[in-house]
Amino acid sequence: MSTAETDAQIINPDMPDVPPHAPSKINLKDYKKPSFDVETIDLDIKLFETYAQIDSVLKMVRQTTGDLVLFGEDLELLMVKMNGSQLGTEDYQQQAGKLTISDAPNEVTLEIQVRICPQTNTALEGFYMAGSGDDTMFVTQCEPEGFRKITFYPDRPDVLAIFTTRLEADKRYPTLLANGNLVEAGEVTDEPNRHYAIWHDPTNKPSYLFACVVADLDVLTDSYKTSEGRNVLLEIYAKSADIDKCDVGMQALKDAMKWDEVNYGRAYDLDRYMIVAVSQFNMGAMENKGLNIFNTACVLSSPETTTDARSFSVKAIIAHEYFHNWTGNRITCRDWFQLCLKEGFTVYRDQSFSADQQSSAVQRIDDVATLRAHQFSEDAGPLAHPVRPESFVEINNFYTTTVYEKGAEIVRMIANTLGQEDFRKGTDEYFRRYDGQAVTVEDFLSALSITDNKIEDFIDWYRQPGTPVVSGHQNYDSATQTLTITLSQQTRHVSGFDAPKPLPIPVATALFDKDSGNIIAERMLLLDQATQTFACEDVASEPVVSLLRDFSAPVQLNYDYQDEDLAFLLTHETNGFNRWQVTQMLVNRILLQGQGSKSSPDVYLQALAQTLPRLAADDAMLAARLLDIPSAQELASAINKNYDPELIKAQREALYQQVAEALKDQWAGLYEQLPMQSYEDSADARGTRALRNVVLDMALTANVNGAVEWAEQQYNNASCMTERFGALKAMVNHQVTNADEYLADFYERFQENDLVIDLWFSVQASADTVSTDVIQSLLEHQDFDWNTPNRVRSVISAFSSQPTVLWTQEGLEIYTGVIKKLDDANPVLASRLLQTLARWNTLVEPRRQMAHNKLLDLQKHAASKHVIESLESVLKA
Ligand code: ARG
Ligand code: ZN
Repeated sequence: MSTAETDAQIINPDMPDVPPHAPSKINLKDYKKPSFDVETIDLDIKLFETYAQIDSVLKMVRQTTGDLVLFGEDLELLMVKMNGSQLGTEDYQQQAGKLTISDAPNEVTLEIQVRICPQTNTALEGFYMAGSGDDTMFVTQCEPEGFRKITFYPDRPDVLAIFTTRLEADKRYPTLLANGNLVEAGEVTDEPNRHYAIWHDPTNKPSYLFACVVADLDVLTDSYKTSEGRNVLLEIYAKSADIDKCDVGMQALKDAMKWDEVNYGRAYDLDRYMIVAVSQFNMGAMENKGLNIFNTACVLSSPETTTDARSFSVKAIIAHEYFHNWTGNRITCRDWFQLCLKEGFTVYRDQSFSADQQSSAVQRIDDVATLRAHQFSEDAGPLAHPVRPESFVEINNFYTTTVYEKGAEIVRMIANTLGQEDFRKGTDEYFRRYDGQAVTVEDFLSALSITDNKIEDFIDWYRQPGTPVVSGHQNYDSATQTLTITLSQQTRHVSGFDAPKPLPIPVATALFDKDSGNIIAERMLLLDQATQTFACEDVASEPVVSLLRDFSAPVQLNYDYQDEDLAFLLTHETNGFNRWQVTQMLVNRILLQGQGSKSSPDVYLQALAQTLPRLAADDAMLAARLLDIPSAQELASAINKNYDPELIKAQREALYQQVAEALKDQWAGLYEQLPMQSYEDSADARGTRALRNVVLDMALTANVNGAVEWAEQQYNNASCMTERFGALKAMVNHQVTNADEYLADFYERFQENDLVIDLWFSVQASADTVSTDVIQSLLEHQDFDWNTPNRVRSVISAFSSQPTVLWTQEGLEIYTGVIKKLDDANPVLASRLLQTLARWNTLVEPRRQMAHNKLLDLQKHAASKHVIESLESVLKA
């Protein structure tokens, strides 16, 4: 709250009971077409030592009646001309981030001159400087509403225009990039130290896809010939010290280009595709037309410095941004409520791409684990919102796992319901019909319905918040040889939304013969009412039913399984995902014993002991996943009251210990069976490394003789970061005697590499043994940097994975202190960090009250509309 607002309250004690200057809400139902379109925009961006000057020329044409509205934030307006004549302040209104011209003629040429200050822009939105001292570069981030921080513009996704961009800067920044094709470059007349480049983008695009870069970077070059015969120049720009870490990304880019041609018939449409790596970035990456900008963490990869998990996600993110070229850029969103239209579909596409690069079961496991840990808990708490929200204050707050991951799950259900062939016909129709337009979720569903309109009911999945719970049981009648499966669905009523209605829920099901272990029938049950009974005939004896195979819908499943049924499925399921899913069910039953479940770990431990040796040899990565115990956050997401972090932690650790000890005799054999080999980036090699790290940790947990030496040797002889970091992490978590020396060695070895130093911070901040003193000292470390989101997250997000420390007086003091500190400087980051605290209301007392007080205190200081909106939601719990 600024002092001005506080004063207003004092002066007028009769003010209504709403927060002063409550930021205003934007509603989907109020959508109106823009009154003017932009045909072309010519931008001239001149970067100087302490500021940038932006000159723009907009050719605009009236579409409907109404004012001509431009958005602008943090801009110093120097001049505005309409159709050649300069406008005075009486000719337009300027307030609340808008510049409005009433009674504008039908054809308008606007010339606008503004000044901005990228050098002091810490929000990392708009045009900003990254780096410091002699090592600086300038990049843009315009999605969703950053372009209005560059110049006045109808900055909304349904205004599409042709951009021409001239960039001018000092020659110490040789790299001048913008969207499209390079038209011209040269020296600035009479200014020997300055040069310029002119770029032209032939595609009509919304302003959120604008990008430019002014920097001193090296470039890795390659090329790709599209299925349409176009030769595309591929470039990845990075600092010279990082250019050797761009090959993985380049290969992934070529793989993604090919994959989209084969699977969706989509070829690339420009002659050039550029990726730029920047170390200060709020998100993972951004799909700007022909000029992606990437967080270094999401594009750089090398065996020595990058873990397998990270490297795999680099490939997925490269593919994700590339796929946006069709799902997002060529067909874009009409308004920001439709964000899931591009994000949900694109996440589905990148998940499918990744599933082709490794075992599809493991891919599904990882995607579902993320969904359960983050999206389910979002849906269970006060930040629950529909995949397509209906109102927002700050759209940045809605780049959520609900929009992205649940959005992808809806597309997956639709694809599975249609079947491969009809889904492809539907997507072909979508691209045919809407290419070059800004559209809605309804448009998407209507195109996909071309072969069959059975998927139109899926619209409710976009409108209704909350995770459906599917409960069920079975009945076998031996006289008629009929199995009946009764399923029902229930979704909690989220306040502020209509009462939930039944959704179409595809439940992929298989029946297993108990004697032979073989599948006797496979069915896709469509549950689209509150309760339904499905009959299967000619079933000779009561089978074991495997449900929700491959996680055919994003729901919680509550089936009246016997532990023995789950153990049976762990052994006999052919669907790798479901083998994992049943282990997770068993684990959950054991952990939730206090809450009425009577499962003993024996069945689970026995099944594991039987399964593991074979599986370790066949599919090491899947074997590693079968030893997963859900994270503390995932377990917490299922608890709505009296959540006790200490209890959950103790239960998790006890079960982990039990597993480690029950299989104690196996660890040495397994570890030997998985020797370290020279580095290879194949699914098998990655599986071996993943399982070896799990086995090492288990062996340390069970105090297996020699395990500490295994860890030390693995660290010292590591061929890659997965091995080295796996060993380090295990040593830190188990507090082995020399852990500190290894931490120091790790720091020494990699101190020049920011991304590895992020790992160094996070392994300490997320350690099972972390304390607030450790966190405090990490925040005070000379390498800690408030201006680099990766570094902030490497401590703060890492530490929030330890709920027993987070939800304490000191833990919250630190955590909310960080939010306060970033609120003004980087509200997007501050607000995202805040969202982690959403489930405070489920805590056991006195933690709950303490957390509430801390949040109320934070509210007194909240400044940005990002944080104000998130706090208001979080506190309404
Ligand atoms: N469209 C980007 C992606 O998912 C995300 C950019 C979001 N940026 C933001 N500041 N909210 O690929
Ligand atoms: Zn995206």
